[in-house]
Amino acid sequence: MLTTVSFFDHIMKNTYNLRNIAAKAIHQVLEQGQSLSTVIPELQQRVSDKDKALLQELCFGVIRVLPQLEWFIGQLMAKPLKGKQRIFHYLIMVGIYQLTYTRIPAHAALAETVNGAISLKRPQLKGLINGVLRQFQRQQQTLVEQVNSVSCHLHPKWLLDHIQKAYPQDWQKIIDANNQKPPMWLRVNQRYHSANQYLALLQEANIEAELDENHPSAIRLLNPCPVNALPGFDQGWVTIQDRSAQGCAELLTPCDGESILDLCAAPGGKTTHILEIAPKSKVLAIDIDEQRIKRVKENLQRLNLHAVVKTGDGRLPHEWATGEQFDRILLDAPCSATGVIRRHPDIKWLRRNEDIDQLVTLQSEILDAIWPYLKKNGTLVYATCSILPHENSQQIKAFLGRHTDAALSDTGTLDKPGIQIIPETTGGDGFFYARLTKY
Ligand SMILES: C[S@@+](CC[C@H](N)C(=O)[O-])C[C@H]1O[C@@H](n2cnc3c(N)ncnc32)[C@H](O)[C@@H]1O
Repeated sequence: MLTTVSFFDHIMKNTYNLRNIAAKAIHQVLEQGQSLSTVIPELQQRVSDKDKALLQELCFGVIRVLPQLEWFIGQLMAKPLKGKQRIFHYLIMVGIYQLTYTRIPAHAALAETVNGAISLKRPQLKGLINGVLRQFQRQQQTLVEQVNSVSCHLHPKWLLDHIQKAYPQDWQKIIDANNQKPPMWLRVNQRYHSANQYLALLQEANIEAELDENHPSAIRLLNPCPVNALPGFDQGWVTIQDRSAQGCAELLTPCDGESILDLCAAPGGKTTHILEIAPKSKVLAIDIDEQRIKRVKENLQRLNLHAVVKTGDGRLPHEWATGEQFDRILLDAPCSATGVIRRHPDIKWLRRNEDIDQLVTLQSEILDAIWPYLKKNGTLVYATCSILPHENSQQIKAFLGRHTDAALSDTGTLDKPGIQIIPETTGGDGFFYARLTKY
C-alpha cells in the first residue's frame, strides 16, 4: 500500500506538466527577481530524474536568449499578455524556445506546451497558445533570419555598452562566450590523485576530458555529466570548479601552519581549495549569508577538511575577528558576476546599471576594513568574477592610492593593476585577481 507521502509523490510525478513548471520558474525570475540558482533546484525536486535536465535546459535556455523570444512574440501578438495572464507569455516563450533551439519533435513541443495551459487552469487559453505557436512555425525561417539584427547581442544595452567600452577589441569574443552553454571544469584533489591520474580514471569511466596546461588541478570535460558519474565524487576526489576560480587559491599560495582568512567564502569552493593545498593551515571562513554558510560546512564535510566557519560582515571584522592578524587573506568580493554570465544568464536581467556603483563601494569598504588584519609581509588576494574595470583594476588602483603600506605583487602594473581574464568559449570564466603585499 502507498503511504500518504509517496501517494502524493506518485500523483505529482505523473500529473505535472514540465512546460508549465518551466514557465513558472521563468516568471519567478523575471517578474519577482529571484535567481535561477534558487528557483531551479527547488522545482527539480518535484519532477522525475529524467525531466530534471530538460527543466534546466528550458529555463536557462529561455533566459539566455530572452530578447530574441520577446521579439518573436512581439511580431506574433498585437498585445502582450499582462497581469494574471503573464505566465502564459512565458509558456509561449518555452514553446518557441523548443521549436527553435531543441531537437524535441515539433508536434511534441506544441502538444506539451499547449497542455501547459490546462495544468495552469486556463484551458480557454489553449487556442491562443496553439495559434501563436503554429503561426511561429509558419514564419519561423523569416523571423529567425531577421532576429539577430534586433536582439542587441542578447545583452541589456547598459551592460553591452560597458563591455564594448572596456574591451574595444575583444567585446564580441566576450559576448559570444557569454551566450554559450558553459564548459564543466573539475578540480582534482591532489591529496588523492594528480590531474593525470584522475584523467585516466575518467577515461576508464568513458568520460572524455582534457588537462589544462596553466592550472595543475584543472580538467575540462568535453561534455558535462552528472556529478555522481564522476569517479570518487562522494569521497572528495574531485570538485566542480571553473579553472579561473581555481586561480585564486593558487595565487594565494597558502602554506601549512599559516593563519588564513577566507572572506566572502560561501559556498566554500575556495575554502576547500586552500585546505587541499595546505591542509594544516588554520582557515577562518566568513560570509554574511547564513544560508550559504551552511554550504561551506557541507563542502568541508564532503572533502573531510577542517576550518572555522562563521557568519559575519566583511565590513565589520571587529565583530567576528579575535584581533589576531592573518598571514594570508583571500577576499573573493561580492561583485556584478559579469564574468560568469554563461553560468548564470539571469544576471543579465536581474542586475541594474545602478548596482555597479553600490558594489564598488561595498568592495572598497570591505578592503579597507580588512587590511589592518593582514600581518606585515602578509599577502592579500583580491578576486572577483567580474569583467568590469570599476570593480577590478580601478578598484585596486584606488586602494593602492589610499594605502601606502600596500604594494602589488607580480600581478599587473601600477597603472593597470591585477590580472583580468575574459570568459572564453571552451576556456575559463571571466575573473580578476590582484595580489597585494603589506609593508
Ligand atoms: C563570489 S561569492 C563567494 C564565492 C566563494 N568564495 C567560493 O569560492 O565559493 C561572494 C560572497 O560574498 C558574500 N558577501 C556579500 N556581502 C558580504 C559582506 N558584507 N561580508 C561578507 N560576505 C559578503 C556573499 O554572501 C557571497 O557568498
